[in-house]
Amino acid sequence: MISKIKILMATQTGSAEEVADEVKEALEEEGYSVDNHDLADESDLAFLSDATFLIGVVSTWGDGEPPDDAVPFFELLRKSPPIGLGEIPLAIFGLGDSDYEIFNGCGKELEKELIRHGAHSIIPRVDCDVWYEDELLQWLNDLRRTLSS
Ligand SMILES: Cc1cc2nc3c(=O)[nH]c(=O)nc-3n(C[C@H](O)[C@H](O)[C@H](O)COP(=O)(O)O)c2cc1C
Repeated sequence: MISKIKILMATQTGSAEEVADEVKEALEEEGYSVDNHDLADESDLAFLSDATFLIGVVSTWGDGEPPDDAVPFFELLRKSPPIGLGEIPLAIFGLGDSDYEIFNGCGKELEKELIRHGAHSIIPRVDCDVWYEDELLQWLNDLRRTLSS
């Protein structure tokens, strides 16, 4: 059983937080232990090493950038030498809007950086457009299947 699932969440107007809460609730119902981490509140990378499964639920703002309050965390992630996450499995659900030039830039960057730090993407990243409920249900099913296998 996967014991320590960490959800890395970044939001500007609350949608990613709602999704992260929904994912946490769904996985806890299956008996998993899940912690939500608002990346706006994280000032170092050490907490990542303590996980056995990482989930990213982040939105994209500006011109393909992270939500304002999460910018310092992403700067840290970019600047830090690889911390050696030891192939921790990773799944990313990005919220965005395909009308913007850099669609889901924050989700893409989070995945790229966590892989550079040693994580291993285990299900395909979802780049979600404005309406995401159907994709979220599908992705949650994929996630449950992956976690139980
Ligand atoms: C001013 C503004 C800038 C945005 N920039 C982007 C962008 O560059 N790329 C993208 O994919 N989505 C962009 N979006 C769409 C948001 O990521 C999307 O609405 C998301 O669902 C918001 O989630 P949140 O409430 O968790 O912040 C932007 C939205 C606004 C209002």
